[in-house]
Amino acid sequence: MIEERQPLIVSAGSPADIGACRSIRLTVVSEVGWWDTPRMLAQMTAGGGPEASQWGIGFDADNAAGSCSLLEVEALDGNLTRILIDAGWNAGYMSERFRATGVDRLLENGDIAFLFLSHEHLDHFWGIEAVLKLAPEIPILVPGGLRQEGIDWLRGREFPQAGIANHTPHRGPVVRMLPGGIHPLLPGLASVTFDLPILLDIRGEQSLYVHVAEKGLVCVTGCCHQGVLALVDYARDHLETGKRPYGLYGGLHLSPFGPMTDTQAETVRALGRYGFQKIAANHCTGAEALALMRELDYPLVAGTGRSGSVGTDHPGNGDAVLF
Ligand SMILES: [Fe+2]
Ligand SMILES: [Fe+2]
Repeated sequence: MIEERQPLIVSAGSPADIGACRSIRLTVVSEVGWWDTPRMLAQMTAGGGPEASQWGIGFDADNAAGSCSLLEVEALDGNLTRILIDAGWNAGYMSERFRATGVDRLLENGDIAFLFLSHEHLDHFWGIEAVLKLAPEIPILVPGGLRQEGIDWLRGREFPQAGIANHTPHRGPVVRMLPGGIHPLLPGLASVTFDLPILLDIRGEQSLYVHVAEKGLVCVTGCCHQGVLALVDYARDHLETGKRPYGLYGGLHLSPFGPMTDTQAETVRALGRYGFQKIAANHCTGAEALALMRELDYPLVAGTGRSGSVGTDHPGNGDAVLF
C-alpha cells in the first residue's frame, strides 16, 4: 500500500505555524556511513562512477556501516513520540547498533511511530532488513522521488549486481512525501521534501524542522544533499519558527570524502550568520569542515568518540543530543 501525501503549500509572505513541542532528544544509533573511504570510492568508480545507479554497484558489505538516529519528541503535555531516522547500510552491523542503543526493544514493542527515510542512499537505506526483522509493519515515510528499485527493496527484492538482498518484506504502509511544501507531522514537527538529483542516481531528500518552545527552530538532516543553506533558508522563508534558528543536527554533506572545496568552506562561513546556538554535525560532515567550524568558534556539540566513531568534535555512535 503506497499513499502519496501532498504538502501544505505556503507562500513566503505568510509563514506557516507548525505548533511547538517541549524538547527533542536525538540518539546517534550510527553516524559512520562506511569504514574506509578510498575503498568505497574505488568501488563506486568501478561500478560506473557517481552518475551510475547505486542498485547496480557492488560494494563490500564489510566496509559498510550506516546512518541512523532515534528522534524523541516531547510534546507540550509531556507525551513522547519516537521516530527512527534512516536505517543504516549493513544490516548485521545495524542489528548490533540497535541492541547497543535499546532501539531493538523499541522496534519490537511498537514504540517507534514510524521510520522517516531521509533519502534513498545506500548508507541510509540498505540496512532496512535490520528494522523489518523487528518491526515488519512499521509505517515508512519516503521522499516523493524514491525509485521503483527502492519500493522493490522494501518489498523484499534481491539486487545480484549490488550483492544485496532483503529477505524480510515490509508489510506496513509506505507514504510518499511529495515535494513543494510543508508536511506537518506532530505539533512542533514538520518535514519538507527537497526535489533534486543526487549522486548515484537518486532523487530528492526530505529533512525535519522542529519548533522547540522557548528555544526556536531545530533542523534535522540525513545527508543534507540540498545544501545546509538551502535547508535553513527554506525555514526562514516559510516557517514562523524559521526566524529563530536554534539547533542543527545531522549530516551536512560538507567535505564528506576528505578535502574541502572553496565553495564548501564558503558555505561553512556563511552558516555563521544564522546564529545557531547548538550545532551537532556528524555523518557526512567531514573533518575539515568541522575543523573550520571549530576555528570560527561555532557552538559545536562534542561526542565521546566511541563504538566506531572517530573524534570528539561531533556526536558519535551512542551519544545523545538534547534540544
Ligand atoms: Fe549519508
Ligand atoms: Fe547521502
